[in-house]
Amino acid sequence: MDFNIAVIKGDGIGPEIVDEAVKVLDKAAEKFGHKFHYTRVLMGGESIDTYGVPLTDEAIAECRKNDAVLLGSIGGDAAVSPWYKLEPQLRPEAGLLKLRKSLGLFANLRPAYLYDELRAACPLRDDIIGDKGVDLVIVRELTGGLYFGERKTFVADGLKTAVDTLSYNENEIRRICRKGFEIAMKRRKKLTSVDKANVLDSSRLWRSIVEETAKDFPEVEYSHMLVDNCAMQLVRDPGQFDVVLTENMFGDILSDEASEIAGSLGMLPSASLNETGFGMYEPSHGSAPDIAGTGKANPLATILSAAMLLRYSLNLDKEADAVENAVSSVLKDGLRTGDIMSDGMKLLSCSQMGDAVADRI
Ligand code: IPM
Ligand code: MG
Repeated sequence: MDFNIAVIKGDGIGPEIVDEAVKVLDKAAEKFGHKFHYTRVLMGGESIDTYGVPLTDEAIAECRKNDAVLLGSIGGDAAVSPWYKLEPQLRPEAGLLKLRKSLGLFANLRPAYLYDELRAACPLRDDIIGDKGVDLVIVRELTGGLYFGERKTFVADGLKTAVDTLSYNENEIRRICRKGFEIAMKRRKKLTSVDKANVLDSSRLWRSIVEETAKDFPEVEYSHMLVDNCAMQLVRDPGQFDVVLTENMFGDILSDEASEIAGSLGMLPSASLNETGFGMYEPSHGSAPDIAGTGKANPLATILSAAMLLRYSLNLDKEADAVENAVSSVLKDGLRTGDIMSDGMKLLSCSQMGDAVADRI
C-alpha cells in the first residue's frame, strides 16, 4: 500500500537521526511491498531561519494532509543560539507546542524498556533491576496543564513576578485516562496514576476522573502515587511499573528519568496521538546541538519511533515488529553508539547504526 508521511527533520542531530529512520522505513516498505511518500515540513529553528516563525500555518496544514508525522528534534543551545534572543513565542519549542496543540495530540506514549543487552548502560544496580527488568510506558497528557495555561510576567508591588497556570477540565483528563486504561489492557493490566493530590486542585480532579474511568476497566489493577514518590520509586524499584499515567509536566520530567533507567535517552521513542489515531512520532530526547554533525548521535529512539508510527498510525503491525526485532538483533550482535557503549562492544556511527538495523529487516 501507499502511505504519506510528513517529515520534520528539525535542528541539531534531528536531520541525521531522521535520515536513519527513513532508511529503515524504506527497507521495511521494500520488504513488505509498500511505498512511503515523504513530504518535508519545517518546524523549530530551521523554520525560524527560513520563515521567521517556528511554525507556519502551511506547515500545520501539510502535516494534516499526511497519514502521520515523523519528527527528529528541535531547538539549539540556548546559551549561544540567536533563536533564544527572540520572544518566547517565537522560539523553536513554541513551534513544537503549537503543532502538538493544533493537531490535537493529547496522548503522548513514552515506552521505557531496558533491553537485556543494555544492562551495562543502566545506571541502577543489578539487584534493583532484578528479574523483572524495566518495561513501562509513560502515558503523558500533552496538550494541557502548565504548558498551555495562561502565563505572564509583570511587576507587582515593585517586584518582578511571573505566573504560569496549571489548568485541566474534566474532558481533557477523561480522554487521557481512557487512553491510559486502554493501553494497560493491552499490557500487564497495571496502571499507576501519578499526581500531586496532596497539594494541587488539578490533581484532585485528576484522581476523581481516574476513579470514574477505572469502573469501565475492572480488570486493570490501578493505584495513585504522588509524583515525588514516583520519582523515587522509579530508581528504587522500576519493575513495579507497567502504565504510568500522568499530566503534561510530570510526564515530561518522569520520562527523562525513565529513559536513563532504560540505558540512555537515546533509546526512548514516543508517539503523540489524537482522538482518531493520527500521530506524530519523535524520540523523547532533544536536539543535542553539542554532538550535531559528528556522527555520534544514537538513531535508535527515532527508529523505534518509526516502528510506533507503523503500528499506531498505519496499522502495520508485522512491519513494526520487524523494525523492533531488527533493533534487538543489532544490540544482541554487540553493536553500539557511544551513549550505550560498554566494554567489548563495537562502536558505530549514527549512519552505520541505521545501516545495521536496515540490514536486519
Ligand atoms: C519533550 C521536550 C519538550 C517538552 C520541550 C522541547 C518543549 O522536553 O518532548 O519532552 O517539554 O515537551
Ligand atoms: Mg522532555
